[in-house]
Amino acid sequence: LFILLCGCTFTLTNADCSIPVIIRGSWFSWENGRNTLTELNAETMTRRGRCINVEEENHVNYTFVFQDPKCYYCVKLLVRTVNVLEKTETGCVNLANNEEPTVERVCKKLNPDQQLITLFSENYVPVNCRSSLEGVWQFAYQNRFRFTGECNNPDAQIRSCQTAGTQFLITNQKFNITYKKCPGMTGTFDGVVEYSCLGDWFVDKNHFFAVANTKESRKDEKYRCFLKNRDDDLYIGVSITAECNMLKTVEKSPERLRITPVKSEVVEAGCRLPQNFSGDWINTANIDADIFINETHIIETWYPDEGRYRRTIYVCREQRDTRYMMARLTVDGCQKDYVCFDFVPQHHNVIRYRRGVAVINDDFHTVCSWVQFKNKEDWKYDLFL
Ligand SMILES: *[C@@H]1O[C@H](CO)[C@@H](O)[C@H](O)[C@H]1NC(C)=O
Ligand SMILES: *[C@@H]1O[C@H](CO)[C@@H](O)[C@H](O)[C@H]1NC(C)=O
Ligand SMILES: *[C@@H]1O[C@H](CO)[C@@H](O)[C@H](O)[C@H]1NC(C)=O
Ligand SMILES: *[C@@H]1O[C@H](CO)[C@@H](O)[C@H](O)[C@H]1NC(C)=O
Repeated sequence: LFILLCGCTFTLTNADCSIPVIIRGSWFSWENGRNTLTELNAETMTRRGRCINVEEENHVNYTFVFQDPKCYYCVKLLVRTVNVLEKTETGCVNLANNEEPTVERVCKKLNPDQQLITLFSENYVPVNCRSSLEGVWQFAYQNRFRFTGECNNPDAQIRSCQTAGTQFLITNQKFNITYKKCPGMTGTFDGVVEYSCLGDWFVDKNHFFAVANTKESRKDEKYRCFLKNRDDDLYIGVSITAECNMLKTVEKSPERLRITPVKSEVVEAGCRLPQNFSGDWINTANIDADIFINETHIIETWYPDEGRYRRTIYVCREQRDTRYMMARLTVDGCQKDYVCFDFVPQHHNVIRYRRGVAVINDDFHTVCSWVQFKNKEDWKYDLFL
């Protein structure tokens, strides 16, 4: 009777295990010095068998039990971005006949100190680079596997900027690293590497982001991982394999870039905002942001986490009727873009406005054409209080 009961539960769990869509697909990883391809569909995983049990935490951590004809495997997958998973797993686990293959039992052998293996989506969908890396920097680089010392060429540059994409709209799903040779240092080289952004994530203070080299077809050379630290904006770590676990700290990364921001150009104001806008405001659309306005500038400052802030500066360029074309300066070094603000008359102490889509052209008719605002029905007016 006992065995029969176990069998029943077993069948039930079996029917219950469905691998979530975000985890399905073809994944590349570098495991034990070898290119590894893993396919996951709704029920199975390559080399691990059929999923019979799953536990989920916060839609990002999944612990699976797979059944192979011979034994069970526990596989823990962390969803880092839509394009990146990280994995830890047990070897082949044998259970006694009367032991039910629960997550708890099969995963007991999971070593918490095991290195996470990074899985990169083979059919990746590039994402905006803004949260990973944005700006322009000159950099000096070290690669302790290729040469000793630091190569510091003034023309070496990292450039990650919003650029004109389709039509006038702006996207930033790629960035460039322009490497330059240093005389007398073999192993340094001249070349531009273009990366697609695959998304970013935090582990405590470590800010990881993954990329795919757009010009590389060898898979083990295509995917790379970067590491920044919240407390240190001077250095960036880069992996030299398709693995994130090689990046423990920025200092100890195989390749390390020492970066210096390139200053952005100054924008002259070309128009004036109404005098009574001047002051400090609260933006109802982004209540965590501080807004400062004077006659020529709107400065929005917000705090993505403790101890960090981000700032967007808008400079008045041209005004017609209630519409103001403002130049937007976000990050050092990138070219500016333009946004239209339409201010709607309101009683005092409230500024009511809507904001158009950012475009790259410095042309009032493009920036402030009514189509840059969403459909009339969707017009959302935000308030500065
Ligand atoms: C997911 O798992 C990792 C590693 O096991 C752990 O550090 C993290 O706290 C978990 N996150 C969530 C949201 O459960
Ligand atoms: C990177 O550099 C190449 C060659 O200079 C250029 O064609 C490409 O548009 C650049 N990509 C980005 C995202 O800046
Ligand atoms: C508005 O503030 C900006 C930034 O603080 C400053 O550069 C600019 O000169 C100010 N404009 C006026 C008209 O005071
Ligand atoms: C600014 O002054 C104009 C005209 O005097 C008035 O209509 C508007 O409500 C005022 N705006 C604010 C934010 O006080």
